[in-house]
Amino acid sequence: MPKQSRRRSDDDFDNPPWGAERARPDTIPDDQPDSVDEPAWSTFTADGVVHGPEPRPSWVITSPAATDTDLGVFKTGKEADVSLIRRATAGEHSLLAAKRYRHTDHRMFHRDAAYLEGRKEKKSRERRAMATRTAFGRELIAGRWAAAEFEMLGRLWSAGAAVPYPVQLLGTEVLMEFIGTPDGTAAPRLVQTRPALDDASDLFAQVREVLAVLARAGFAHGDLSAYNVLVDDGRIVLIDLPQAVDLVGNPRSEEFLRRDCVNICTWFTARGVDADADDLVRDLLRDSR
Ligand SMILES: Nc1ncnc2c1ncn2[C@@H]1O[C@H](COP(=O)(O)OP(=O)(O)OP(=O)(O)O)[C@@H](O)[C@H]1O
Ligand SMILES: [Mg+2]
Repeated sequence: MPKQSRRRSDDDFDNPPWGAERARPDTIPDDQPDSVDEPAWSTFTADGVVHGPEPRPSWVITSPAATDTDLGVFKTGKEADVSLIRRATAGEHSLLAAKRYRHTDHRMFHRDAAYLEGRKEKKSRERRAMATRTAFGRELIAGRWAAAEFEMLGRLWSAGAAVPYPVQLLGTEVLMEFIGTPDGTAAPRLVQTRPALDDASDLFAQVREVLAVLARAGFAHGDLSAYNVLVDDGRIVLIDLPQAVDLVGNPRSEEFLRRDCVNICTWFTARGVDADADDLVRDLLRDSR
């Protein structure tokens, strides 16, 4: 059985252990995975699970005889907890990141907010539950966010973007490729790195490239900053994509694209890189057409 300490209830999040105010994610101490649950059967073949896109990377373990071991929460974000999972058979194993959306008030600044909030919901019982934020309604909303991120990761991964491979979606949990070392140390966020100018220029070139792939697929990240870019041994990986903005369908898409570009260019400019936000916006708009 999972240890109680890893199974927090909703109330814990209404009264977060780190104080009355909601802390910025970077002020929350990053838990090292500490307590380890007992292995359970792999959820890859569980009822209701949705699998990531084909062709599946060879490291994805699909065997129903595999087990999942929850190695504990290693990051606590504003809207989700991220745990390290070890999925193993007798012969092989892989590390996965489980992003579990909490039943909290989610960012609602764009994307198809009406859909995510259930205002377009056909079933009136579910629409009402989401509107009045009953426990059931909040679970539905968290599930919508998880599904939105899972779908976006799959689409972008298939387009060749440097994003984690989405292994599966199950309710409010997205299970994806763990970005880090085989010993379970997560890759640092860009904001935690102190690259020399040459390295910073190379990282910026990679960021431009991943944003170009997104733009060609018709999207802007929508919440881009040096917090949502991981640096895995010199290679960047873009994360945290549930609110990606449709560059064609969203009337405010250019505003969101510009904000993304200004955020990321400001970080690189402070490291001495020639990173011009206007140039980047222009190139990405061109890529999107
Ligand atoms: N696939 C992954 N591999 C390794 N680390 C990850 C992965 N996904 C997320 N993380 C870590 O977990 C943190 C939180 O993830 P994410 O940004 O997706 O969630 P969030 O709740 O939106 O967080 P925030 O409020 O910090 O934006 C990331 O900053 C990163 O350090
Ligand atoms: Mg984030």
